[in-house]
Amino acid sequence: MPTALIVLAAGQGTRMNSDLPKVLHELGGAPLFAHALSSGAALAPERTVLVAGHGAEAVTKAAKALDDEIDVVLQEEQRGTGHAVDQARDTLADFQGDAVVLYGDTPFIRRETLDAMAKARAKGADVVVLGFEAADPGRYGRLVLDGNRLARIVEFKDADEATRAITLCNSGVIAADTATLFDLIAGVGNDNASGEYYLTDIVDIANARGLTCSVVTCDEAETLGINTRAELAAAEAQLQADKRAEAMENGVTLVAPDTVFFAADTFVGGDTVIEPNVVFGPGVTVENGARIRAFSHLEGCHVSRGAVIGPYARLRPGAELAEGAKVGNFVEIKNATIDTGAKVNHLTYIGDAFVGEGANIGAGTITCNYDGVFKHHTHIGAHAFIGSDTMLVAPVSVGDGAMTATGTVVTQDVDPGALAVGRARQENKPGFATKFFEKLRTQKAQKKG
Ligand code: UD1
Ligand code: CA
Repeated sequence: MPTALIVLAAGQGTRMNSDLPKVLHELGGAPLFAHALSSGAALAPERTVLVAGHGAEAVTKAAKALDDEIDVVLQEEQRGTGHAVDQARDTLADFQGDAVVLYGDTPFIRRETLDAMAKARAKGADVVVLGFEAADPGRYGRLVLDGNRLARIVEFKDADEATRAITLCNSGVIAADTATLFDLIAGVGNDNASGEYYLTDIVDIANARGLTCSVVTCDEAETLGINTRAELAAAEAQLQADKRAEAMENGVTLVAPDTVFFAADTFVGGDTVIEPNVVFGPGVTVENGARIRAFSHLEGCHVSRGAVIGPYARLRPGAELAEGAKVGNFVEIKNATIDTGAKVNHLTYIGDAFVGEGANIGAGTITCNYDGVFKHHTHIGAHAFIGSDTMLVAPVSVGDGAMTATGTVVTQDVDPGALAVGRARQENKPGFATKFFEKLRTQKAQKKG
């Protein structure tokens, strides 16, 4: 069944106490709404419509950055979840298939849960609602059952005592045929305690039209919505705990799991060892059998089999480490390939560069890649030997098997096999130091006297 996702993200998120729209706050290095999309990916959606309102401009920008195909629609005034979904009506007018409503602030819905909802749809339920048994049902909407079927959803504010005693609650996730969903929403009014158009009212309307509504349940933890910074922090802790457990199950050694921080999309291959206090930003893949030593920070990079990083290394976006490459302490790599077995072991910046197979980069080497306006490329050939404290003023190329002398400022290309020396010639002055300090000490003694 082709599926469209409708992700509600128009709410202000007042309790975040933030200028940033709630769904742009980050969890596991990705904006909140991206997590809902990632759960929804289980359904291989053909269309995704994000309903934006507060901070719509910023939300649109973030959505397009994530996936250019996402349609963003504007809900100018937040008049309820039914009204929010209705904003997707025109965009999905010609769409044939199921629509699944997700909330942009609810990041933990499991893919398996959405699969179960799709199965319930396939079995013939016209409207499928995701429910959960709440430990403390609080202000959630209550699911009123009639045998196996869902009779209606009653919002807390509109519920009598008997209905409030129900512990089966509405998560907010709803699936139905797209045309049916919009037909049902057209029948929703706002004559209720909040004066809002409730999406949940479609259940009552569907039943009145002889359609069937059913409930799929999930664990309460999946339905956790983020409303405050404290909840965001709790969600982050949960995500980290899950990612650590998953990594270890996949055969990754975490020496001190609680000190390693992953992004939601981090992938680490088996038999890689991660030492304490390592942080992964978004977009990192580490292959099998690598070693990430203590206090390293990785982001937007790829580390191949058997490579060793750190301690105290920083891999920035576009860092590509081939098999067996070594990047040591206080080394920063950005938008650069370190080819097979090449070593960049100490106190170095390599940016916008290619470092060839087996090359050795001496301590304190810097690729001077930025002229204040443009970025330039540095090429270092296979098995080249770059002496300590070499400044490579890009654009520049050092040929295969070439070397640079310590302290050289390289401004011209170096041929394969050649040596580049570019530094002032040394001059020694016998006895100078002794005489010089004697003079200074004499001066100091005279001042005191
Ligand atoms: C809603 C459900 C309730 C359910 C609860 C689960 C309705 C009427 N109620 O209540 O049954 O138990 O979620 O958390 O659906 N939004 C918009 N535009 C709007 C209103 C809301 O985009 O006009 C978005 C919000 O940003 C949020 C989501 O929809 O992401 C839910 O809205 P919220 O106001 O939190 O709904 P609840 O009152 O909690
Ligand atoms: Ca809510």
